[in-house]
Amino acid sequence: MKIVLAPMEGVVDAPMREMLTRVGGIDQCVTEFVRVSERVLPAKVFRKICPELFNDSRTSSGTPVVLQLLGSDPQILAGNARKAVSIGANGIDLNFGCPAKTVNKSKGGAILLNEPELVHKIVWWVRQAVPGHIPVTAKMRLGYSDKSLALENASAIADAGASGLTVHARTKEEGYRPPAHWEWISRIREHLSIPVTANGEVWSWQDYQRCREVSGCDDVMIGRGLVAAPDLGLRIKALQRGDDPDHLSWDEMLVLLQQFMDMVELQLAPKFVHGRIKQWLKMMSREYPQAMPMLQEMRSLTQVVEVRQFLRQYSE
Ligand SMILES: Cc1cc2nc3c(=O)[nH]c(=O)nc-3n(C[C@H](O)[C@H](O)[C@H](O)COP(=O)(O)O)c2cc1C
Repeated sequence: MKIVLAPMEGVVDAPMREMLTRVGGIDQCVTEFVRVSERVLPAKVFRKICPELFNDSRTSSGTPVVLQLLGSDPQILAGNARKAVSIGANGIDLNFGCPAKTVNKSKGGAILLNEPELVHKIVWWVRQAVPGHIPVTAKMRLGYSDKSLALENASAIADAGASGLTVHARTKEEGYRPPAHWEWISRIREHLSIPVTANGEVWSWQDYQRCREVSGCDDVMIGRGLVAAPDLGLRIKALQRGDDPDHLSWDEMLVLLQQFMDMVELQLAPKFVHGRIKQWLKMMSREYPQAMPMLQEMRSLTQVVEVRQFLRQYSE
């Protein structure tokens, strides 16, 4: 019964993983994708996206972090996987789901789902490249424009030796529009003999329960729901045990936000700090309406020191 924090480029970076795993209830994280095109990347690229490599691929609270690669050339992906493992990666995940135009144009992400043989080749090469004890997993959507190749792609991934598959239950064309087709995850799970993790549109305990029921999966990956409500994993686990947990209070969220700002300031150039705070506030406003007026007030702030002061004022 694992809860996995979803990879989210530009949102779930190391500071966000740190904050969310500090709250608890998360069993594993996956990094934002490392985009691989023509060569084996230098160690610093992997370490920037996954600073947890310096800490045995774990966040400070001890939650394991798997490194995700995105690309289309099997041998180059394999070389990069080997490199990542040589500098401490404890697991490699392969991205067959990214819908971004720029990524798909250079033949990475969801577009690969039009070519199950290539999907097979990629997983096979990466599996061969890294030691057997390092898990190689994949994350796929149900297809590019339709779902006709969903089972074929899933089989290609399993037959090539992947140790697990996460299914985001939508096609690329379906973007992020609800619903997520959890019943398709069930079809895929029944078709494979490797563990399948269900993903898409889990925002609450009720969603989690229905997702598990419909998909038949024990493990669930959650992205936006955990960013909006950082204690969602903890609460799901408590509710499963029959407890009645409290929500993280708004005051506690403000403390998290300040700690997040400290970490973002250490990792990003000042011009990006403001944007990351606003981004999180916007996402948490789904669960915490108190975030909305803050967002509006933040519009007039331009300097990092002003943002810092503003957050401090709010917490007092
Ligand atoms: C802003 C954003 C960035 C994402 N970046 C990645 C990524 O780097 N790799 C990946 O496999 N999926 C990525 N995804 C997809 C998520 O991992 C997840 O599959 C999707 O958000 C559905 O799950 P959710 O409904 O729980 O958010 C991204 C999604 C969003 C919204």
